[in-house]
Amino acid sequence: MKVLVVGGGGREHAIVKALRESNEIDELICAPGNGGISVDCRCVPEVGASDIDAIVSLAKAEKVDYVVVGPDDPLALGCVDRLTESGIPAFGPDKSAARMESSKIFSKGLMEKHSIPTAKFRTFTDYENALRYIETQQPPLVVKADGLALGKGAIICETLDDAREAVKEMMLDGKFGKSGAFVLIEECIYGPEITVLCFCDGKSIVPMVSSQDHKRALDGDKGLNTGGMGAVAPCPLYTPEIAARVEAEVLKPVMDAMIAEGLCFKGILYVQLMLTKDGPKVIEFNARFGDPEAQVVIPLLKTDLFTIMRACTDGTLGKLRIEWKNECAATVVLASGGYPEHYEKGKYISGLSIAMLSGATIYHAGTKRDKYTFLTNGGRVLDITARGATLEQALQKAYSAVRLISFDGMQYRTDIGKKYRA
Ligand code: AMP
Ligand code: GLY
Repeated sequence: MKVLVVGGGGREHAIVKALRESNEIDELICAPGNGGISVDCRCVPEVGASDIDAIVSLAKAEKVDYVVVGPDDPLALGCVDRLTESGIPAFGPDKSAARMESSKIFSKGLMEKHSIPTAKFRTFTDYENALRYIETQQPPLVVKADGLALGKGAIICETLDDAREAVKEMMLDGKFGKSGAFVLIEECIYGPEITVLCFCDGKSIVPMVSSQDHKRALDGDKGLNTGGMGAVAPCPLYTPEIAARVEAEVLKPVMDAMIAEGLCFKGILYVQLMLTKDGPKVIEFNARFGDPEAQVVIPLLKTDLFTIMRACTDGTLGKLRIEWKNECAATVVLASGGYPEHYEKGKYISGLSIAMLSGATIYHAGTKRDKYTFLTNGGRVLDITARGATLEQALQKAYSAVRLISFDGMQYRTDIGKKYRA
């Protein structure tokens, strides 16, 4: 079979590397891909991940048998619908099901209606009403824009003044574009955050091993929110007792709720949980693999990823036994200086070959290939990943490899998984 992977980040590199192992795939291509992905398969850099017309044309011209859509934007834009209409099966939810991520108002409404535990919230389309509501609340409050806002659409407001300002920025100043025309105001909940990625086939939902992202830019969870600076899997806080509770209180109910609302969710449902003192609550759903969570979860899969993806598309997931390695994984993100704000590109990266010899797996996130060398080409540049019998071993191996790599301005967190280390 010939397979096209859509996307060009570290997540897509992890998907490409896993699909290369599949006996069912003869040829793999990736659009747009990146420097590192271009070593593993042919890339089509001129086709952007959100250019649905170009993706459909490419899939037809290349006569691919199956497409895997990595990022959220093309899913929200209906990439899977368009490919399916053209007779090409694709992995990921259709546009309607992708609203689980692309509209917070939709997904929070579904949770409220079907009693899935989540922070209490109200939605607003009118600025004055939002202001009046804020007057009646106790801070802190969380103000969120409805749509996809590159992970920056949630503002934690310590005072009511901050909440008024956040609502003004979203609803009047258009800071988040169209996403901000509708806002949610939520109660602030507290506790550690955990990611549970789930395979879904429209009927069944099968959780993967748990993981934990590190979202802030700096050590000690300080600094700005980022796309994610590192991750571990499984997350030691996700005990079998909590997992059983999440299955009963969140996973099964959300699949039933989606079916009841007429959604046929096929692909990855990303469940972001907060373990509060009142039990696990959903912070949000996403409709795709997490990045960098995919980089620690996919390497722990024993079962062929492509077999699972096809079972999701075909609606036969319930018949498949998915197996995991009895190991742990860690990834450390190497970012450009200044990320997540302004940063420069085009810096020469040294030490990659020797770092690979040390036994780590290097997923490229934002790199460009220049013959035999790699240059930085984004905010998050590389994901240095390792497996081990314990999380401690995985972290040691990942950080040993990190120390062999350098580029001008390189920044990374030195405390990924630290709270779980021996
Ligand atoms: P989101 O855009 O929904 O992914 O939120 C981004 C981050 O904001 C989450 O990872 C949480 O750390 C935080 N957050 C979102 N909603 C809440 C809430 N209701 N209470 C506390 N923190 C929240
Ligand atoms: N790591 C956070 C996300 O993928 O949304």
